[in-house]
This record gives sequence, structure tokens and C-alpha cells, in this order.
Amino acid sequence: CGIVGYIGKRDVAPLLLEGLARLEYRGYDSAGIVVNSPKAGALKMVKAKGRVRDLEARVPKRFAGTTGIAHTRWATHGAPSDVNSHPHLDPENKVAVVHNGIVDNAAELRAKLEAEGVVFASETDTEVITHLIARSQADTLEEKVREAVKAIDGTYGIAVMHADFTDRIVVARNGSPVILGIGEKEMLVASDVAALIAHTRQVVTLNDGEMATLKADDFRTYTTSGTTTNSTPETVEWEAASYDMGGHDTYMHKEISEQPDAVDRVLRGRIDDRFNTVHLGGLNLDPREARGIRRVKILGCGTSYHAGLIGAGLIEGMARIPADAEPASEFRYRNPVVDPDTLYIAVSQSGETYDVLAAVQELKRKGARVLGVVNVVGSAIAREADGGVYVHAGPEVCVVSTKCFTNTVVAFALLAVHLGRIRDLSVTDGKRIIDGLRKLPAQIQEILDGEEDIKKLAAEFAEAKSMMFIGRVRGYPVALEASLKLKEISYIHAEAYPASELKHGPLALIEPSLPTVAIVPDDDLLEKNRAALEEIKARSGRILAVAHREQEKADHTIVVPKNEDELDPILMGIPLQLLAYHTALAMGRDIDKPRNLAKSVTVE
Ligand code: G6P
Repeated sequence: CGIVGYIGKRDVAPLLLEGLARLEYRGYDSAGIVVNSPKAGALKMVKAKGRVRDLEARVPKRFAGTTGIAHTRWATHGAPSDVNSHPHLDPENKVAVVHNGIVDNAAELRAKLEAEGVVFASETDTEVITHLIARSQADTLEEKVREAVKAIDGTYGIAVMHADFTDRIVVARNGSPVILGIGEKEMLVASDVAALIAHTRQVVTLNDGEMATLKADDFRTYTTSGTTTNSTPETVEWEAASYDMGGHDTYMHKEISEQPDAVDRVLRGRIDDRFNTVHLGGLNLDPREARGIRRVKILGCGTSYHAGLIGAGLIEGMARIPADAEPASEFRYRNPVVDPDTLYIAVSQSGETYDVLAAVQELKRKGARVLGVVNVVGSAIAREADGGVYVHAGPEVCVVSTKCFTNTVVAFALLAVHLGRIRDLSVTDGKRIIDGLRKLPAQIQEILDGEEDIKKLAAEFAEAKSMMFIGRVRGYPVALEASLKLKEISYIHAEAYPASELKHGPLALIEPSLPTVAIVPDDDLLEKNRAALEEIKARSGRILAVAHREQEKADHTIVVPKNEDELDPILMGIPLQLLAYHTALAMGRDIDKPRNLAKSVTVE
């Protein structure tokens, strides 16, 4: 979900609609807007099920105002519908609330309010916040909001307007991002810098338990218990232009194309040629501590989990520390043994995925050391972790992750060299990997230059009802990620299997209508992988191989440049991003905003 708000002198509706469009990647099943002006007493609201453009079509010509809040939603409580869209107003049209997060005790509060005679307009958990504020007897809006947030359990990022307090917007945060944009005689608020950056690069990121009052020419931050926090603005490093499509038809295509530059950025300033090692400034881990690590456990969700699987292989292979990755969402519910000699690493593009954040908080509570591998600077997970590595992929807008996945894996390679060189990785191997890392940007470009051929293959695969992806050891997470990418954006069913497990079950599925994509690197497992191709061919299965040379058994081979064995998975994933992209494009899918998904899942 996304929040944006403005108070100042400008006509607010177009400004908020533009902000919502920039946030749409965070949720897009309904949207709404409320505006007011200092003189007018009553709030004006429009909401609509559907995309921001559907909302825009409903906003009347005369919808003037200089203060407003707006929201784009990804349904959690209550189906997507006009009434369930935010903002939520009280029956007297005095209080308007937009909310990201989940109120855990909504049912209980709702029952209590209904018993007091309150009539609810929607099924949402957010509406309880509106009624709590509207019914508060406190004198100031700040106090009313404070009372409401004290009554609710759960997560929230909220922005509140009140017809009796037209000179301000009050916001509060617990677990869902709230960022203030500090302008010249105007203030903004949003759940993501993407919505602010066209207007100001001066931002204040609220902490959990913090609130703020925004007036046109002033802002104030304080805790929910009322203590002033005096936050000062920071300058955002990302350019407004990095949120534009830059001549591409979709963000996904733009982001795939940016990978050579993105990889260059994650490497920059981190390689030490004198000692053939890697320096990571934010790690907060001294060599003695690094030597004491006995296990590495990597946690993430979706694509970040897959990047973590490759990362675990890199760390185990180069630093010789037992390492594995697990979905953070599973980890946090199985009461895992938390061991002081284990290094925990949380992976997240957004730095705000709730399942990952909750796992980090639980680990920290139990005294574990947690690092973050995160893209968004200053995000919740980055702040919660003891240290970490920023992946510097730049803003990623398409719901499915491409450049950030690649950069995350490269960041893990850097971490593996760093840990390895403190432990058992030799000078020569350190140098070998570093030289390999430096080759990546040009090799990625070489793969991207072959896009036309991949497009032709995609036209063929767009007809498949289902697809199999296989890989072995290093190639298996590549297969997992490629299959996830395909299903997310094309809605073709896809399944990933270790190549070695084919004969233990899924071989039963193989027939000409179920094509297989096989990851076949030129490494010590080449012959084993070729045997899997034989097994498939013998059942008349069609095969697309991603390999370092033509594969005889395959119907098609996408040949990618060879790097060091350890780094090959990074390159082998790239053509499969393009394959998923062109398959989805040929099927006419909404690539940047696949159905039912959101870029960051900040709820459970
Ligand atoms: C959502 C997105 C996925 C993403 C996952 C983790 O489910 O749709 O594309 O991989 O969240 O996001 P994160 O920001 O933590 O990497």
C-alpha cells in the first residue's frame, strides 16, 4: 500500500494523484483521495476500486484544496471495493485517515465501538482508527491521534486530516514507513521516497513510535508519549530521474537493462587489490569476530530468498562456513534455535518486508548478531540490523525484482570474499574471484545484446501451459528464481527442481507439451547435467538450455559468457529474466504490476 499527503499552497489533487501513480507499484487494487483548504470546513473525498487512473477519472473538475492525503491499496482486510478504499472518514466528514499496516485488535475495537452505536461504512481495520479519533474528547489533533494509536495493536503508518484543524496533517508510524518531505513553504508525507522526490530531496524518516505534525511552513516530530525528538532532514541520494521509465516501455525492461551499471555500483570502492580482498564499510564485524562465526543463516522472502540461496553457496564455498538460506516467513514461526556463533543475514530489496523485519526483531531480542543485505538506504531492516551491505541497485519500481536480485547476489560474493580472506580463501583465489567480479558488467551487457534471439524463443514458450526449470547445486537457485519470475509476470505455471531429483518424481510429467529450461554451466557438474538432458529427451521433452556452449540434446541453447564457476549463476539468470519478460509481453500481461502482487509486503 502507499500513502501520500501534502500541505502548502499548491492545488493538491493533481499533485497527490501524481504521487499515487509513483506509489502504485506498492499496491493497486483501489485508491482514494481527500482534500481540504484552510477556509473550507468540510473534507472532500473521492475513492475508486481499480488503478490510480480510475480514481483520476472520478475526481471532479472542481476539487480545489491545498491540503490532502491519498492512498493506494493492496487489500488485506476486506475485498477491494470502493467503500473499502482509503481514506476512511467518520460519518460527519470531519476526520480522514489513510493507513498502511494491520490493526491486530480491529475486531475487538470494532465490536466495542458498535456497542457504543458507531455505524461502520467499510469492512476495513483502518476505519476503527477514524472512529477512535473522531470520538476523542482531547483538545488537539495530536492528542486525539495519540489516544487512537495507543488503543490499537499492530502496525501502522497513518496520516490524518481533521476539518477542525485545517492547518495541519498529523502522522504516526509503527512498523510501516512514514517519510516526511520538507519543502519550501510546503510539506509532504509519503510511505516511500518515490512519491516525494519530484518535489524535494530533503526527508525525515520517522522511527517506530514516532509522530509528526506537518504545517505548510513547519514540521515537528515527537514520540507517541509526547517527547520531542527534533529530527533533522537528510538528503536523499536517488535522483528523481531514476524513477522515470527512461525510454523503455516498462520498468522491468528498464531495470533489466540497467544491470551492467548497477553491478558496477555495488562493486565500486569495495575491492582492495593490494590484499586481494573486499572492504565492506558498514559490516561492523571485526576479523576476530568473523573468525568466530560457525554458521551463517540467511533469511529473506521471494526473490530475495533466492538471492540468499545463492549467497549461502558463495559463503560456504569461499569462506568455508556452513551456510544456508530459509524463507524468513517460515523461520520466524518455527521457534528456531538461536545460536550465538551463528551470523544471521537478512536480505530485502525494500528493507521493509514484514516477515523479514519480524524475524530480525525476534533474533535481536534473543541476542543474535544480524546483518542486512538491503537496497533501500535507511529502511527499517537496515536500521534494525547490527550492520550490513547496501546493494546500491538504485530504485526498483517493477513489482518483480531483477537488478536488485543480481546486485544482491554480487553483494553476497563480496561478503564471501571478505569472510573468506579472513579465513581460508587463498590470495590467488581471492584475486581470481575479484577479477571475475570485474568482468560481470561487460558480460551482462553481452547477454543483454542478445535480447532479440531470446524474444524469438519467448514467442515459442508463450504457448506452454506449464514449464519445468532445472539446475544442479549452483544452478538450482537460478532455476528457482527463473521459474518464479515466469509465473509472477506471465501467470504460466512453472516449477523448479534440482536436476538430480528429476528421476525421483517430476520425470513423470515430461512430455512434449511441458518444456524444460535447464541450467547447464561448464563446470565439474557438466556431465551430470547432460545426463538429465538425456533423461528428458528420452521422454520427448523439449529443452531450452542456458549454457556456456551449444548443448546437443537441447532444442535451443542460450549461450552465455563464462566467468569463474562460483560467479556463473549471476550471469545465467540474466537471459531468463528476458525470457520471462518477453513471454509475458507476448501474452499481453501487465508486466510491472502483476495481478495480486505488491512490491513490498509490509503486512503478515
Ligand atoms: C514481494 C514481492 C517480491 C519480493 C518479496 C521480497 O513479495 O512481490 O518480488 O521478492 O516481496 O521483497 P524484499 O523487498 O524484502 O526484497
